[in-house]
Amino acid sequence: MTDLERKQRLPVPSEWTYAPAPESRDVVQLRERYGHFVGGEWLEPKETYPTISPASEEVLAEVGQATAAEVDLAVKAARGAYENGWSDLPGSERAKYLFRIARILQERSREFAVLESLNGGKPIKESRDVDLPLAAAHFFYYAGWADKLEYAFPNRRPKPVGVAGQIIPWNFPLLMLSWKIAPALACGNTVVLKPAETTPLTALLFCDVLRQAELPPGVVNIVTGDGSTGAALVKHEGVDKIAFTGSTEVGKAIQRELAGTGKKLTLELGGKAANVIFDDAALDQAVEGIVNGIYFNQGHVCCAGSRLLVQESISDAVIEKLKRRLTTLRVGDPLDKNTDVGAINSKMQLDKITELVEAGKEEGADIYQPPCRLPEKGYWFVPTVFTNVAQSYRIAQEEIFGPVLSVLTFRTPEEAVEKANNTPYGLSAGVWTEKGSRILWMAQQLRAGVVWANTYNRFDPTSPFGGYKESGYGREGGKHGLEPYLKFDSEAFGG
Ligand code: NAI
Ligand code: MG
Repeated sequence: MTDLERKQRLPVPSEWTYAPAPESRDVVQLRERYGHFVGGEWLEPKETYPTISPASEEVLAEVGQATAAEVDLAVKAARGAYENGWSDLPGSERAKYLFRIARILQERSREFAVLESLNGGKPIKESRDVDLPLAAAHFFYYAGWADKLEYAFPNRRPKPVGVAGQIIPWNFPLLMLSWKIAPALACGNTVVLKPAETTPLTALLFCDVLRQAELPPGVVNIVTGDGSTGAALVKHEGVDKIAFTGSTEVGKAIQRELAGTGKKLTLELGGKAANVIFDDAALDQAVEGIVNGIYFNQGHVCCAGSRLLVQESISDAVIEKLKRRLTTLRVGDPLDKNTDVGAINSKMQLDKITELVEAGKEEGADIYQPPCRLPEKGYWFVPTVFTNVAQSYRIAQEEIFGPVLSVLTFRTPEEAVEKANNTPYGLSAGVWTEKGSRILWMAQQLRAGVVWANTYNRFDPTSPFGGYKESGYGREGGKHGLEPYLKFDSEAFGG
């Protein structure tokens, strides 16, 4: 402290670290126990299980573990609502409900954001600034299509498919719900949705929004439970279409199950995206893109930039900048507004990340983790970078779904393409270069559903999203996202 400061008694901080800035939990009112939302009513569940906060392991509520009989009730409710009016409503009427849902989500976004972070472990600044605005945007966007389907698909007489069974994962619970429900309703279908077992609470709060919007009972039904509930939904004969987002393993099992049934299917599965940095890229921006690509949402992102491909001539400089940047990431309480990296979603996922990181060390890659104090309770993983990674290592091949980056190098654009495409997946990719022609060339060569240029993890409801190869098929978002929820006259003639 200088003499001048002492004289003026200015409060000079002794260190420049962040003070805690916790978001209040008061805005969320949890019930002790939740049932299934069937036909617009709460159905008392036969079995329940506890859902927790992964940051504290605190039990938040008991939720239902739906049996096949309960799934059957939900499908029947959806069928009833489909036949008793919903599928015949004019598109402009369906749109009104979707617009209402979108507006209510906006009005209640703080409540939803806090609950999302509480139940799933993601930082509040992400649920507040990404998940919630995008969820509302999806409903607004598809509300706009509801009365324009004939113009979207001219001369093809689009009609709803019927009852859609929708199974979603835990990494973006409310956002994945919106990706599924908004286009389904816009097209005149009814829905049975199953959230992931670790993150049911925002989907259950969403039932409250449906009531507020006065959506006719049975148009959206929500059953909670684990994989066995999902399997019962997939198998149910009353379901006309399945939409699934989750692991490639379960996606394949669903595809086998549905073979020959005539049910429509879309799969959005895993990824192992390459984020490719050329030597002419704006390096500081690229480093921000790398960080956003893999540490956003603890790396629990199907399109995460989990493989960094950096041109050899700038590799040392990029890795040095990246390591320095990692020391500034704040890991901890998801409800703290300063937190960059929150809790790992579950014990199971933490074990999977830990196992793959051990494999990376054993196979001979060099590991870097910034100094970092983790909370004692809950599930946490320090942001990690592996250098000296060979193509054959498990950490370069398998989806880790955690805050772990594998760095590989390349010399020529051809080599970058070859390495980027050398994976069973094909969901997304990133390209960083100042050269426009190279961006276009790379986008053509990369076998990935989405290619971001000089940015990463950028989402918009108007833009279709989906994969190649083992990342699945079918598109969500944009006009493309309507098609899986429609059947067309021409299909009757095999056209
Ligand atoms: P998962 O694929 O088992 O779970 C996703 C959803 O499918 C959940 O709602 C789950 O209850 C349901 N489910 C599980 N088994 C089912 C079955 N036989 N029939 C129907 N539904 C079923 O994924 P999990 O076990 O949570 O995570 C394992 C790995 O999968 C992760 O480490 C990650 O690599 C990957 N994953 C990818 C996601 C993506 O967005 N592409 C999302 C979640 C996980
Ligand atoms: Mg699983």
